[in-house]
Amino acid sequence: MKKTLISFAFLILGGLLFYCSPSCSADGETLFNTKCGKCHNSRGQGPVFAPVRYASSQWERFFQRNKHKRKKDISKEVTPEEAELIKKYLVDHAADSDRPIAAGLR
Ligand code: HEC
Repeated sequence: MKKTLISFAFLILGGLLFYCSPSCSADGETLFNTKCGKCHNSRGQGPVFAPVRYASSQWERFFQRNKHKRKKDISKEVTPEEAELIKKYLVDHAADSDRPIAAGLR
């Protein structure tokens, strides 16, 4: 009985993991919308912007030189790993990218 329960639990866990792997892990777009969008929306304290605001090299520099800190320190809300994913999303959809995104945060 106990064994059956344990195997059952693993089955559910495995199913969840399988189901989650593409959709549940945070991607750059989601992180951008939630983490940056927390302040950069029409109700927030920062200006609303879209990835096309800058060219890819400008986004690279923005993150590399931690330029946000001059405006506001966000190191408590965005981890380095998250920043890396967000940077990739912004660079991939920057003004000079193949797939620019002009729709801003809401
Ligand atoms: C805690 C709130 C907060 C969070 C979180 C936040 N920002 Fe900001 N951001 C601000 C404020 C405040 C400013 C400064 C606005 C000003 O200059 O008056 C700013 C400025 C900026 C600017 C400069 C805009 C300009 O007009 O020069 C950019 C670009 C920017 N943020 C990008 C981001 C990105 C990308 C993220 C997510 C990684 C992010 N911000 C997260 C509050 C935030």
